[in-house]
Amino acid sequence: MAQIFNTVRRIASGFGSLETLGDEIKRLKGTKVLIVTDPGIKSAGLVEIVAAILDRAKINYHFFTEVEPDPKIEVVFSSLAAAKNFGPDLIVGLGGGSSLDISKVTSVMMTNAGPIEKYFGMELVPEPGIPLILIPTTAGTGSEMTSICVLSDTENKVKKGIVSEHMFARMALLDPQLTLGLPPHITATTGMDALVHAIESFTGVRATIFTDTLNLQAIYLVARNLRKAYAHGENREARENMLNASCLAGMAFSNTQNGLDHALALAIGGKFHLPHGLLTAFILPWVMEYNLLADPEKFIQIARAFGETPDGLPEVEGARLSVRAIKSLLDDLGISYKLSDYGVPQEEIPAIAKAAIGAVRLISNNPRKVLEKEVIKLLEGNY
Ligand SMILES: [Fe+2]
Repeated sequence: MAQIFNTVRRIASGFGSLETLGDEIKRLKGTKVLIVTDPGIKSAGLVEIVAAILDRAKINYHFFTEVEPDPKIEVVFSSLAAAKNFGPDLIVGLGGGSSLDISKVTSVMMTNAGPIEKYFGMELVPEPGIPLILIPTTAGTGSEMTSICVLSDTENKVKKGIVSEHMFARMALLDPQLTLGLPPHITATTGMDALVHAIESFTGVRATIFTDTLNLQAIYLVARNLRKAYAHGENREARENMLNASCLAGMAFSNTQNGLDHALALAIGGKFHLPHGLLTAFILPWVMEYNLLADPEKFIQIARAFGETPDGLPEVEGARLSVRAIKSLLDDLGISYKLSDYGVPQEEIPAIAKAAIGAVRLISNNPRKVLEKEVIKLLEGNY
């Protein structure tokens, strides 16, 4: 079967790249722009900075600032109402993964009739949306490079994904300046999410030469920069490398999807509102330990990217060094990898395992076959 690689066609990166926003909007023939963002971005003063850039470019704009973390389906109703009311010809998503995801789905809901429920799943959106520019303000989700949007269905307590090639942005704008002020714990959890994307995509069954190339570089960059960005947030080089790592991993996993780690993170996150990056981070060592038998060579490459020396060891022992490296990183970032530390009652484990197994988009990329009873064992073993 042919393997398809699809991605965002244009990236502006580096310190100061935000200044090009006006020109980039004009290049896409945008004249009336809706900026989708969240209250945190507003209070951080970024709305004023973007407004000044658009004023200088003489572009008509409106801000929708009501995106919440872990966005519910209802947020799309509000953003879509704002968009229909204003009538933009281009949407800018500005923020963390939630704002970018909501801007993507708003773009396609402008040109595809509702209800939104009929688009949950893989490639069910028939028409392209209106042009989209995505500007991440955290280095982790890689959402600026993916065709995926994840929303919380609060009624059914699950997270649901829409995957559509029509949700690829027309461009991503990566300005590390926007990430300099992130506090250490957000730096740690979002940075770990980028690493989990790279590892799940790299070791997954849908990995290709193209995604491997991106993911290895992303793993290498996180291994060398996440501790530095956590320890000193104004380290410009570390911030730039982390933002680029997040982008590279996003570019890759949009084509492979993730694996068991993300399936568990969505299952736990649907019931207990823990930050996505924290969830994916604390699950990672268990899932790597479980998966490494399926493809030890890939895990040896991860170990090497973290500076471990698997030479001379039996293959599986070499692969296990990758888990040791991840645990050491989590220890340094102050992230526990015990499920019991996160307020998840042990009696919830069977329901979590069932929900995780149901996430076929993710489980089908996992390198090791996984059954519900094995997931229960994995969760109980790390309680
Ligand atoms: Fe993620």
